[in-house]
Amino acid sequence: MPARLLDGSALSAALRRALAGDVEALSSTGRRPGLAVVLVGDDPASQVYVRNKVRACADAGIRSELRRLPDDVTEAGLLDVIERFNADDGIDGILVQMPLPPHLSPARVLETIGVDKDVDGFHLSSAGALLHGRIEDGIGFLPCTPYGVMRLLDSAAVPIAGRHAVVIGRSNTVGKPMALMLLARDATVTLCHSRTRDLPEIVRTGDIVVSAVGRAATVTADMIKPGAAVVDVGINRDAAGKLVGDVDATVREVAGWLSPVPGGVGPMTIAMLLENTVLAARRRQAHTTPTT
Ligand code: GUN
Repeated sequence: MPARLLDGSALSAALRRALAGDVEALSSTGRRPGLAVVLVGDDPASQVYVRNKVRACADAGIRSELRRLPDDVTEAGLLDVIERFNADDGIDGILVQMPLPPHLSPARVLETIGVDKDVDGFHLSSAGALLHGRIEDGIGFLPCTPYGVMRLLDSAAVPIAGRHAVVIGRSNTVGKPMALMLLARDATVTLCHSRTRDLPEIVRTGDIVVSAVGRAATVTADMIKPGAAVVDVGINRDAAGKLVGDVDATVREVAGWLSPVPGGVGPMTIAMLLENTVLAARRRQAHTTPTT
């Protein structure tokens, strides 16, 4: 039996419809959530991602403010834009689209975003809050892509506690936080990377496999335990220019669940960005509403 589909497009659409109601409720109290999006340069892929995020905000009733900066903007110039958004009461979340041109330090840029507006979840404090299980205490935000993967797994009731989860890729934005989120749900986690020996053997023991490598056909059918849940975070182009993930199409015949590319994790990342923005607005409202 072919794998059940982990349909991120459908789940994302449902979550965004539900969120639109929350946004209207917040807006009726005089606080429409607002997201600032900063795009440096004219990288074509980044332009598409940013356009999709701005459109998704509009569809959910979230106000967005897009600031385009030339690719020779100085670091001081970019940090100044971020500081202004930090101080802007109409802005609940700030997103600086990555990657940045090489003369700009992503670490300095991301750490300038106020942690209360860090809706991408890339700030050191958000990473620390995830590590220590403190996000639910109102500190920082979960990074959108791994958060979307967890929601996709939960939507299909994929068992996590006690299962072996294999994460391939150790980026700060996906692999490492993904491993921590699965660990927080009591999975036994193995984090694999480019120097891992015997990758196929390790992946074959995974009840859950998340691939975030960025290379087509990293995961093939012979590497998958029958019935495993396979989540494909990769976005690659094949020789014909077609969008493909990290996971080979043949995996569908072996896996129990599989997320497609496109239509799997990508739409979930956007839904989580919007949820984080509404969460940021709620937290700020709770801090500013008088109690008497
Ligand atoms: N570039 C690719 N994905 C992302 C993302 O989720 N957030 C930001 N800020 N930049 C990205």
